Amino acid sequence: MSGFSSSQFLSNCSSDTLAVAALRLKNGGLVAFPTETVYGLGADATNNEAVSRIYQVKGRPSEHPLIVHIASIDGLGIWARDIPEYAIALARDYWPGPMTLVLLRSEIAKDFITGGQDTVGLRVPAHALALGLLNEFAKLGGLGVAAPSANRFGQISPTTAQAVSEEIAEFLSATDLILDGGPALVGVESTIIDCTGLTPRILRPGAITEEMIFDSTGIAVSDQGDAIRVSGSLESHYSPRARVVLNAIPESGEGYIAFSTLTTPAGVERLASPSTIEEFARDLYSALRAGDVLGLPTIVVVAPEGGGLALAIRDRLLRASHEPN
Ligand code: TXA
Ligand code: MG
Repeated sequence: MSGFSSSQFLSNCSSDTLAVAALRLKNGGLVAFPTETVYGLGADATNNEAVSRIYQVKGRPSEHPLIVHIASIDGLGIWARDIPEYAIALARDYWPGPMTLVLLRSEIAKDFITGGQDTVGLRVPAHALALGLLNEFAKLGGLGVAAPSANRFGQISPTTAQAVSEEIAEFLSATDLILDGGPALVGVESTIIDCTGLTPRILRPGAITEEMIFDSTGIAVSDQGDAIRVSGSLESHYSPRARVVLNAIPESGEGYIAFSTLTTPAGVERLASPSTIEEFARDLYSALRAGDVLGLPTIVVVAPEGGGLALAIRDRLLRASHEPN
């Protein structure tokens, strides 16, 4: 666990605090902030130098595109062009919310945001602190905040400010900030939807499900098997230090994450016992982190079955269970 100066860590986020944080962003600093999915590491999405510091702090290869967080649907037209009607329907129905839309970029979205692609990922997060920060940033003339999950590259996304601090505080400078908004409520990263084709396509499953996309657009999306183009799709990703084993019976000395209906064998360290799929998603990453803190060599997870959020959880678990490359 690394130390951090107390000036970096703000847990009492009044509107004054958010104005200070927005000014830091405007001046090229980094601000880690809570969203409903996971914590993000934010920088002014129009500032090349600030954005390049995100890559340094995360240790992330620079060709990976970043999601631009905007205060409202009004930001769509600033960052994207030729927006299909189904994308506008999705934005109206599910923003603010755990959904990222990939659209053709405008000239505002530079290569250092899009990784040189002709598309940009956009999201309005549903979290009071995140929206407060984005609104204060907009008051200063800011157009959007680039924010990947606030973890080191390849690690699990942080769902608490403490986890952010443990991941990256040692790489931040004295003028960067970590905002504490409590534990993230959704717990897995946003659904990423490619909106550059005639129909939407899910690139990363999340809390906004196929059914919800159908309800909003009247278009049936299928085929999530080829979600390969995003960094979250690298084989070994979202990985704790422990070896993650799926759908096995844990042995003494191992960690265990499973629905509360499954009992804990003797000598096994129970890390989470969710009773709903929402709880499963919310608690998963912090439970994996807790297993690492305990120094467990192996964590057994009984993956939830079914579509929707269960699909998103299985997607992350499959990657966590891969041996590092
Ligand atoms: O829930 C979330 O989406 C969180 C919170 C902080 O908003 N953010 C997040 O960011 O998960 P990140 O960078 O860890 O993952 C975003 C993924 C990356 O794998 C990136 O490659 C992909 O989104 N992405 C971003 N822009 C893209 C684009 N234009 N085309 C395809 N994929 C894109
Ligand atoms: Mg990430």
